[in-house]
Amino acid sequence: MNILGIESSCDETAVAVYSDAGLLSNVIASQTVHRRYGGVVPELASRAHQQSIWGVTEQALEEAGLQLKDIDAIAVTNGPGLMGALLVGLCFAKGLALSLGKPIIGVNHIDAHIYANFIESKPEYPFVSLIVSGGHTRLVLVRGFLDHVLLGDTRDDASGEAFDKTAKILGLPYPGGPEMDRRAREGDRKFVKFPQALLSEGYEFSFSGLKTSVLYHIEAIDEPERAAYLEKNMNDLCASISEAITEVLTKKTRRALKEHGVKDLVLAGGVSANSMLREKMTALGTETGVRVHIPKPVYCTDNAAMIAVTGYYKAKSGQFDELVSLEPFASQTA
Ligand code: KG4
Ligand code: ZN
Repeated sequence: MNILGIESSCDETAVAVYSDAGLLSNVIASQTVHRRYGGVVPELASRAHQQSIWGVTEQALEEAGLQLKDIDAIAVTNGPGLMGALLVGLCFAKGLALSLGKPIIGVNHIDAHIYANFIESKPEYPFVSLIVSGGHTRLVLVRGFLDHVLLGDTRDDASGEAFDKTAKILGLPYPGGPEMDRRAREGDRKFVKFPQALLSEGYEFSFSGLKTSVLYHIEAIDEPERAAYLEKNMNDLCASISEAITEVLTKKTRRALKEHGVKDLVLAGGVSANSMLREKMTALGTETGVRVHIPKPVYCTDNAAMIAVTGYYKAKSGQFDELVSLEPFASQTA
């Protein structure tokens, strides 16, 4: 069985093929048009998806050594994400499915981040998953394939937003997360003790206070010295911010592992590419004896391999969608 996976929920146009033999191809076109605006501009994202989706699909097929006629089903992200961006991928997928006479499978983008772990690893159910992306920060108990119990969500910013927004305050280029990661590796994590919110409150997360605290810290430095202060201490500030974010994530995950007594922990989403988080979660695995699954960075950030693999398992369990009634959805709160 060959599944074509299509992802267009935000600013990556991505297509991949997953088959009985595993992942055959994984092509990602990252949109650079947003850089000068310091964030994703939805309308520009939709247009860029339209321009590249066919070329990316052709390349994914070519790299897989397949033709359209060899595809057995089309899996496509139908939410959550930017509505216009989702529509481009979904309409394209529907057109392909209709013309090929093949079934369509709608894939939830957040779920797909979790199942990205099945590309190279075999987590055993039940497991705890920490989903950390630009839009979500969640702890989930996964009892079986797509059988999820939400343990806790963020009340405000997602952890990816916490990285991106604090990076912006420091004057780092967008997207701030990877840049902050790079600089934090060279910095002193104890330089400033930034707040770790809601530590005593279950599995809820809050990162907006951190953003304010970083802003106040910078504004407390007199204007004439601020630029020099930032330049001199940038790596230490990045390390201190990363420490605050990753400590909260690690402490809450430790609690969830203990409470649910699972043997596997699964990291998911763009922020799981972060080296400090990877290091802390690996150490948590050693401390607790829990097997820790972390996708390689290319499967952490947005990609279509995760859509194709989730679609593959949905197809295996007969979970197809109706071509006409499959609709996009912008947000998902639970
Ligand atoms: O999962 P993802 O690619 O897209 C969403 O579904 O949101 O996550 C994107 C987020 C961005 O906030 C980005 O800054 C963050 O993941 N990110 C990182 C790193 N790589 C990506 N944050 C910290 N360290 C990284 N290495
Ligand atoms: Zn994502």
